[in-house]
Amino acid sequence: MVVAFYENRGPVDCPSEIDTSAVAGKTVIITGGSSGLGLCYAKAFVEAGAFVVIADLQPPTVAFEKAQAVFVRCDVTVWGDQVNAFETAVKRSPNQKIDIVIANAGIAGPDVLAGLSCDTPQEPSTKIIDVNVIGTLYTTNLSGWYFRRHHDDPRKGCLIFMSSINGYIDSQSSSIYSTSKFGVRGLMCCLRRKGVFRVNTIAPWIIATPIMRKDFLESVEKEFQSMGLDLAYAQDAVSAVLRVATDPSINGRSLAVVPRQVAPSGYMDLELDDFDEGSTMDRLQKAVLAISYNKYGHTIGG
Ligand SMILES: NC(=O)c1ccc[n+]([C@@H]2O[C@H](COP(=O)([O-])OP(=O)(O)OC[C@H]3O[C@@H](n4cnc5c(N)ncnc54)[C@H](O)[C@@H]3O)[C@@H](O)[C@H]2O)c1
Repeated sequence: MVVAFYENRGPVDCPSEIDTSAVAGKTVIITGGSSGLGLCYAKAFVEAGAFVVIADLQPPTVAFEKAQAVFVRCDVTVWGDQVNAFETAVKRSPNQKIDIVIANAGIAGPDVLAGLSCDTPQEPSTKIIDVNVIGTLYTTNLSGWYFRRHHDDPRKGCLIFMSSINGYIDSQSSSIYSTSKFGVRGLMCCLRRKGVFRVNTIAPWIIATPIMRKDFLESVEKEFQSMGLDLAYAQDAVSAVLRVATDPSINGRSLAVVPRQVAPSGYMDLELDDFDEGSTMDRLQKAVLAISYNKYGHTIGG
């Protein structure tokens, strides 16, 4: 049964207690879980007693016990690799189910207007879109397919997207990356009403990880400090992910991981994906929601 189960019940209470025992015994797939934020999520879920499948191009930089986590070589832009990762998760996990998926693999890179001074026009690379958007679309489709087979209640399947603050603000020097993160945010907004699984987005401010060059990171950190803003912390991204993963009532929200000057807990509900009741956009949104696309065959999971 497909039900539209998103309704705006106001912001998630971010500083509230997180009961990590809720994910003990669950199976979690983390794409791009070998480094940076993905690796922090993997460690946190293992610590909470979950079984973690890391789907990445390269093995994790730390070793896990076989019974706690498994690495599957996977390029998220290759459909067959992702199918293999999901199948391996079902086969290797103690509960033989997939409960939580974190579509985390992502890359950053040059701006679409790079190369304007070259003698001839240079074809811009779309690799960032391939990894951040196409990879996430594949992960989404597979998550839906497995969640439907493994859970009788759509609230039991939990998909978490990795967008960015760049999915919400103008960033003049990273247009392809920002486009990809606006895309991920858009995907969450479209899926949250489907009723096939819970879906939420994490939108981090800059956090020191290998995704950025050290010299760039250092200069940005200085710049921000002059404005009274720190970088955000990986441990706060972990809290945001665990907050979503452990609370079955959270669906359709975007939690930003922010400098602690902005929110003392280091993460907050952005409250930017809904329109004010009675506004023009609210009216148009309601009209679009009334369309029965299923009648015309446009449906997922139906
Ligand atoms: N660090 C930040 O400041 C920040 C801010 C906002 C959003 N994010 C997002 O968080 C996510 C994780 O980033 P991170 O900072 O931990 O970066 P990272 O570079 O440390 O980790 C990214 C991981 O993804 C893997 N990966 C890259 N391409 C892949 C592919 N095609 N298939 C499978 N795995 C692939 C890499 O091998 C790596 O292990 C990304 O989606 C990123 O855009 C990061």
